[in-house]
Amino acid sequence: MFPKDFLWGGATAANQFEGAWDVDGKGVSTSDCCTRGSLTSVRHVTYQTEDGQVESKIMFGLDAPKGAKFGAFDGYDYPSHEGIDFYHHYKEDIALFAEMGFKTFRMSINWTRIFPNGDDEQPNEKGLQFYEDVFKELKKYGIEPLVTLSHYETPIALTNKWNAWADRRTIDCFVRYAKTCFERYNGLVKYWLTFNEINCISFGGFMAAGVASRDPLMIANATRNQLLASALAVQEAHIVNPDMMVGNMIGYGASYPYTCNPEDVLKQRKSQYNVDFYSDVQARGYYPNYKLKEYERANLDFELTKEDQEILANGTVDFITFSYYMSNCVSADPEVLANQKGNMLMGVKNPYLTESEWGWQIDPVGLRISLNDFYTKYRKPLMVVENGLGARDIVTEDGQIHDDYRIDYLRAHIEQMDKAINEDGVDLIGYTPWGCIDLVSASTGEMAKRYGFIYVDIQDDGTGDGKRMKKDSFYWYKKVIASNGADLD
Ligand code: BG6
Repeated sequence: MFPKDFLWGGATAANQFEGAWDVDGKGVSTSDCCTRGSLTSVRHVTYQTEDGQVESKIMFGLDAPKGAKFGAFDGYDYPSHEGIDFYHHYKEDIALFAEMGFKTFRMSINWTRIFPNGDDEQPNEKGLQFYEDVFKELKKYGIEPLVTLSHYETPIALTNKWNAWADRRTIDCFVRYAKTCFERYNGLVKYWLTFNEINCISFGGFMAAGVASRDPLMIANATRNQLLASALAVQEAHIVNPDMMVGNMIGYGASYPYTCNPEDVLKQRKSQYNVDFYSDVQARGYYPNYKLKEYERANLDFELTKEDQEILANGTVDFITFSYYMSNCVSADPEVLANQKGNMLMGVKNPYLTESEWGWQIDPVGLRISLNDFYTKYRKPLMVVENGLGARDIVTEDGQIHDDYRIDYLRAHIEQMDKAINEDGVDLIGYTPWGCIDLVSASTGEMAKRYGFIYVDIQDDGTGDGKRMKKDSFYWYKKVIASNGADLD
């Protein structure tokens, strides 16, 4: 059984579903400059060079030429511009979430709707009003918003000015934005998350932090600046309303040594540090020894002032959240490494697991392990704020979508959450499967990789009328919520 007030719901992100990228005063964000990709072709980011040429480069691990000015240009296909047009369909979509019985809905605020350039003096009233309307619509159905302040979009003006998060000035811009939201939505929003998958900065500097460089010092600074901004946002929220709960968000996956060879075990532990570091800082309030040593070994001129340390110590999160899709293995053996394939949390294939078409290995037990890892380390309430199966859905002639593969995936993960709560004593307070309504994939930029309970008729070739349709999983999840997780059949 799940706890009485368990927060069942679903998760989304503004840049992946709102569309309306340039209406009502919205500015351009990093994600608005990312092109559509696919399973076989990677996403690019577009920019203009100093001599006026329009070019693009691969989004992950972007290292742009000096002086590049990022933007959206004619002739490119940018999926965030249309999304699924939640901006104009939010009432219809929220009614469907309510029909499923959602207790919570995870969404993000697009910073550029509120501060179009990131450093504007005054917020954009139309942007503020849009989210107020959405939150009120959710409240109408008794759905508690769970709001991410930064989900893979940074105002592009900040990237073009000073490489966004690589510069300390971005901290003040973000804190002003966060404070504006806390004040405006006080009484409407209780649960906040600061940065989505903050650990993705390590390999996705542009996507996670608007940094158009792989320079290790810039990445280390951007990481510190986001951690500081997150801690300051926690403090601001508590000043506005001590009942506000502010959490972090980590992109997680259980990680195993490929064999019991101590070399594999040691390498797995060390790679785990790269993920644990962020939650260690956000939950405990200080930089761990292993990270400072790593910077020292790399000879980075990294600065963490006394004042920085105080900010981190005074801004620890109220709860911990993470995304969980898969697990991975770590090997120290060069021959095994030649076999690497996966996604953002790359790893060596685990022979005991199956995988999705996109190569993500399915591991429900890994979720129980992860829940235990987080809870024993930090003893703070947890939420699983992303989980799900990206798959191609087929609409039958009579307009049905039989996504039993998705139901199987979610059922197996919910069973493991149940065990973590009831057998292991983990304090899990909510579950919001990813992309509860079909939306644009973050890694590939395509619509074909669908996660939703609700099908949206928008295709990658630009066809489709945007119609919303209930999949089999819609009816199944409704039953799960109505029975508070007891009926998973
Ligand atoms: C997480 C992100 O990495 O995984 C989401 O927070 C993303 O934004 C989700 O969409 C699923 O990944 P993808 O690449 O299949 O969309």
